[in-house]
Amino acid sequence: MVSKSQSNINSPLSSLEDWEDDLLQRYPEPKTQSSKTKKEYRDYSNTERVDTVRDFYKLNHTYQTYDFVCNKEEEFLKFDKKEMPFWEAIKFLNTLVDDSDPDTDLDQLQHLLQTSEAIRRDGHPDWFVLTGFIHDLGKVLCLFGEPQWAVVGDTFPVGCQHAEKIVFPEFFDLNPDSKDERYNTKYGIYEPHCGLDNIKMSWGHDEYLYQMVKDHLPEEALYMIRYHSFYAQHREGAYGHFLNKKDREMFKWVDKFNPYDLYSKLPEKPNVKALMPYYEDLVAKYLPPVLKF
Ligand SMILES: [Fe+2]
Ligand SMILES: [Fe+2]
Repeated sequence: MVSKSQSNINSPLSSLEDWEDDLLQRYPEPKTQSSKTKKEYRDYSNTERVDTVRDFYKLNHTYQTYDFVCNKEEEFLKFDKKEMPFWEAIKFLNTLVDDSDPDTDLDQLQHLLQTSEAIRRDGHPDWFVLTGFIHDLGKVLCLFGEPQWAVVGDTFPVGCQHAEKIVFPEFFDLNPDSKDERYNTKYGIYEPHCGLDNIKMSWGHDEYLYQMVKDHLPEEALYMIRYHSFYAQHREGAYGHFLNKKDREMFKWVDKFNPYDLYSKLPEKPNVKALMPYYEDLVAKYLPPVLKF
């Protein structure tokens, strides 16, 4: 278990959910007829959490440099850490729970199922449901000893100027890349509209899972996985100068996915046992039986 008692200066969040609760405050669900009242969600108005989220972003913005991302790619994209059958990987991910707040926390599997079930209820294709079900599997990085700031948090391009629209932009003053002339201009090392495939993103669970499953899912699904934490673009539109035509088409899917990730968290827990047969078939349809981490 990775719990609050093990948290340290490198991992200020008492739970990874603190980051997600902060997202809900930044991007509250727009009022719709079916929208839940605030009371139905976890209570995320907690001042202690606000401080830990700030500390978290300070670390994230300080240390996510271009070189850092290159090093993490080198370390993790060999996928030589561990081999696990898919369902063992889900069990492994689920050891990543926060035991400091047992009344309100849903475990990782429950968040995944709530996301995917909301997608399924809306009648989307099965690969979209599967995408909801696996989108956070990359968080296993935490269980390989990676600090929170290198696993979760909003992602952003490295190798070019940090957009003002990224949460806590002031902390980028601490990032050495912001003083490096190669990296601190609008385009940095990139060309206008070069396409996101040519842009290196800050390192975390999104890119890691994308690289793991990129041969197995439709392109729309891969965009959702790879860019689901890229709020500076999918919510703020701050990096349109790098997008090409395909990115703009595909980001419609990232936009479609985001509300399911953010707004499907409800206190009632999904019936894991009843849902398993459907998900076992779905996973077997698209993914190899054993995943390499
Ligand atoms: Fe995520
Ligand atoms: Fe998520």
